[in-house]
Amino acid sequence: MSLLAEIRAKAAAKSTRIVLPEGTEERTLLSIKGIVDNKICIPILLGDEGEIKSLAGKYGADLTGAEILDPKKAAYFDDFVQAFYEMRKDKGVDLDKAKKSMLDPLFFASMMVKMDKADGEVAGAENTTGNVLRPALQILKTAPGISAVSGSFIMIVPDCEYGDKGTFVFADCAVTPVATDKQLAEFAQTSAETARDLCGIKDPKVAMLSFSTQGSASHEVVDKMISATAIAKERFPDLKVDGELQADAAMVPKVGKSKAPNSLIAGECNVLIFPDLQAGNIGYKLVQRLAKAEAIGPILQGIAKPVNDLSRGCSVEDIVNTVAMIAVKAQ
Ligand code: ACO
Repeated sequence: MSLLAEIRAKAAAKSTRIVLPEGTEERTLLSIKGIVDNKICIPILLGDEGEIKSLAGKYGADLTGAEILDPKKAAYFDDFVQAFYEMRKDKGVDLDKAKKSMLDPLFFASMMVKMDKADGEVAGAENTTGNVLRPALQILKTAPGISAVSGSFIMIVPDCEYGDKGTFVFADCAVTPVATDKQLAEFAQTSAETARDLCGIKDPKVAMLSFSTQGSASHEVVDKMISATAIAKERFPDLKVDGELQADAAMVPKVGKSKAPNSLIAGECNVLIFPDLQAGNIGYKLVQRLAKAEAIGPILQGIAKPVNDLSRGCSVEDIVNTVAMIAVKAQ
């Protein structure tokens, strides 16, 4: 069974309710049939019921099994306005601004997850990553003990003997432009959890990547990866992590042995932590295009409750798969 088929099957094992705030978006409407037919979750579409149904007719989308909720008609709309006001009044939000925010489906959806009206949220087919993330970060916040959110990709590289039989987790490829050493250490831990929980990688081995391997070069950006490695080892003693490592020393056994002979995991790593978002985002796209790897994500890590972003270029299948991942996390 492919990894995505496994994730769909796991999602179907327990019923969850996932909110899709982009309720008038064509691919989102078309994804409902795949979500319902595969018993992935009960999808909740946000928006005006008449408009959603009319668009579904126009696009040929079958909405059987989906719930439709118009935020402004929700029984708990006023409670959400009050709760958002209480949450954000120190940040200059008054009741009027709180009401406007709750009329925005992206904010309303994050509030549904916060208030346990939904188990998770998926959006981003028509909104930028920033617009999806901001309400989630403001309302749901980070998970306990985590200070920054990151976005990983599961990379499945064909005909590849490295990583976990060609499967890797790359991070951060989507969220934090310049992470601190402490935040990079957190990405190591949350990415190892993604490897274990979603990819079935039983033994995550994490490399903190650099252009230097264990002292071969010196620069302040290398020092940051050395410090991130030390913090990760201290804060997460059960985590198998090492650095700083060049990508070949991290993945290729022979190179790992020769460049980092004292490392217990060099040459065997299956989770790669990039030094900043530019490197991570460029890195995953290069592997996706040049090595024809399947790139699944971004998978948001470190948020207190399950939320996921979609690429605006996503397909209907991508939405179904992302909803399945969030349903598994919500379980
Ligand atoms: N982790 C955790 N919390 C965060 C983070 C983070 N990385 N960044 C911001 N926050 C919190 C802030 O502390 C703030 O909380 P508060 O209001 O309660 O104090 C809240 O989020 C909102 O912060 P803002 O300053 O309004 O948000 P900002 O404008 O900094 O945006 C964002 C944050 C959206 C994550 C921004 O850094 C961003 O756009 N990142 C890049 C996203 C991107 O374009 N990725 C590449 C494309 S995706 C792809 O190709 C797969």
